[in-house]
Amino acid sequence: MSGRSIGVFDSGVGGLTVLAHIRAALPGADLLYVADSAHAPYGDKPAEFIAARARFIAEFLVAQEAAALVVACNTATAAAIAELRTRYALPIVGMEPAVKPAAEATRSGVIGVLATSGTLESGKFAELVRRFGSQARVIVQPCPGLVERIEAGDFDSAATRALLEGFVAPLLEQDADTLVLGCTHYPFLAPLLREFAGEAVSLIETGAAVARQLQRRLAETDFTCGASGGTARFYSSGDPRHLQALLPRLWGAAAPVELMAC
Ligand code: DGL
Repeated sequence: MSGRSIGVFDSGVGGLTVLAHIRAALPGADLLYVADSAHAPYGDKPAEFIAARARFIAEFLVAQEAAALVVACNTATAAAIAELRTRYALPIVGMEPAVKPAAEATRSGVIGVLATSGTLESGKFAELVRRFGSQARVIVQPCPGLVERIEAGDFDSAATRALLEGFVAPLLEQDADTLVLGCTHYPFLAPLLREFAGEAVSLIETGAAVARQLQRRLAETDFTCGASGGTARFYSSGDPRHLQALLPRLWGAAAPVELMAC
């Protein structure tokens, strides 16, 4: 394996919540990040469309010598990861809503899963609930419109608050004590979720677990990280200036963003 980079992608900025965990786990790795902003959100689009985007972006990342791929998007994982794994012999790590840990953690016996319609309607999610849902009551909550607020960098306006509260309140009313953040965009709203749900409710996301899984998969290969801090390169299929303007806030550092022609 010659590539030294980790290729990561999402429909937009959501995968940056995963990228941060990857950076913490692999400080010396060179990271490539693609935001498919020209096609965000993925959540309500047909699975075939998302699979075609995933193929295109994976091809782009492999051409940039990615040694592994992380599908930092629950919706794209459900739609496309099986096919990507048949195409490439690289480690390919994806996301899935944390139903299993939530079912193990709940004390009330009720968990709420916040995710996109695409994720919740997928066969992969149905299988997850079939396997682990017997341990708890699983209430699903699609969140249309939420990813658009996050893509706009709007984490705290009256509109975002009202939208999020409308999704979370019914879960709390039904006694959910554990909320699964089943979309990589949602951790950006964790402070607001915490405010609505209170301290007693657990919020579960999967970024750290995915970074650990990536580490395990890389350890099975001859992948090596640089000794010093790794680089991060960012690409967008939309207007690069949009992602570039958000990076200091969402990634913690300014960086140039290149256009990925699509
Ligand atoms: N961040 C993605 C996910 O984890 C996609 C959200 C979207 O584009 O609708 O599902």
